[in-house]
Amino acid sequence: MKVITILGARPQFIKAAPVSRVLRKNHIEKIVHTGQHYDKNMSDIFFEELHIPKPDYHLGIGSASHGKQTGEMLIEIEKILLEEKPDYVLVYGDTNSTLAGSLAASKLHIPVVHVEAGLRSFNKKMPEEINRIMTDHVSEFLFCPTETAVRNLNDENIHHNVLNVGDVMYDAVLYNQQLAEKSNILTDKGLEEDNYHLITVHRAENTDSIENITNILESFSKIDAVKVWPIHPRTKNKLNDLGMDLHRIPNLKIIEPVGYLDMIKLVKSASKVLTDSGGVQKEAYFMETPCVTLREQTEWVETLEDGANVIVGTDVDKIVSYATSDTKPNYKNVFGDGKASEKIVESITK
Ligand code: UD1
Ligand code: UDP
Repeated sequence: MKVITILGARPQFIKAAPVSRVLRKNHIEKIVHTGQHYDKNMSDIFFEELHIPKPDYHLGIGSASHGKQTGEMLIEIEKILLEEKPDYVLVYGDTNSTLAGSLAASKLHIPVVHVEAGLRSFNKKMPEEINRIMTDHVSEFLFCPTETAVRNLNDENIHHNVLNVGDVMYDAVLYNQQLAEKSNILTDKGLEEDNYHLITVHRAENTDSIENITNILESFSKIDAVKVWPIHPRTKNKLNDLGMDLHRIPNLKIIEPVGYLDMIKLVKSASKVLTDSGGVQKEAYFMETPCVTLREQTEWVETLEDGANVIVGTDVDKIVSYATSDTKPNYKNVFGDGKASEKIVESITK
């Protein structure tokens, strides 16, 4: 059996790592990297740390508008699929690389396997929501991380080959958390365990809205705690363009994006996580660090139970209040048993 995996953005390297490890044992996997993310610390570092094989094809598409970026990926992926004639095309999550891979394959009648299917924010202004809906509707196998995701697909009349296997990001955390214990990131950055807030912000709805990003920065300046922020290049570029100065925010350490093991250590040891990332919300839940989500919706509604994660949007008072409040949530096991990757490979090879 031959599978072509299409990936291109940071969270996809992390999701692909555990699945690829299982897949490679008995089957042929060829990896296509679209080049959507290309800085060393947004791409290569994850291949090295997580032992993902070097991509068989690197398209080097890079950054562009949605149409140009997705269109160029589509053209190049189609050429590879015509040449390779795989049995399946495997895509992850909801980025433009996901959409390009699933469209190229489905038009060639190659079955699409979607990992992290069925997620919905019900906000079609998010580029990711469009990518998810389109991908789910052309996929042959839909591997869901949660029961909510299964229900979302059923509500859209998708029932065939819909399986809740659990979350591959949970597999990744379980596999790597011991290794992450060896990370020196806390000492390197002068941080004390349980005595800092971890920040990540990159969502278009925040970086591309002056009002939202201004509110977010204002709230950070009202939070006394030490804050560490591995800044996404998108956000760094936007803040530079807007001439917004982060140095006036007290106790804020801006750092470059970090590798996965350092990030796991940072999430686990933080007193709070403030984020608009999908993956980081879940990792906070897996590692029992209370999370404050800088968005109006979340796809990961399970994390909201018992206040483990709260949705605050960009309301300054709410951000400050939840970032400084004490919470002792009761965490549950709602993301599977850490064997999602095995279940995915077993299902497609049956
Ligand atoms: C993309 C995904 C988003 C995902 C995120 C993960 C889409 C529509 N969005 O958003 O769902 O949550 O990745 O991080 O697919 N840039 C660099 N170096 C890089 C990569 C990006 O400088 O290695 C800068 C460029 O200025 C680029 C901008 O970041 O224009 C945005 O990159 P892009 O991949 O288009 O979107 P993300 O915001 O990263
Ligand atoms: N991540 C990382 N280094 C960082 C920031 C994030 O390794 O500096 C990891 C994080 O632990 C998670 C994934 O990247 O596994 C989330 O990716 P991102 O926030 O870029 O995208 P999203 O999940 O929102 O699509």
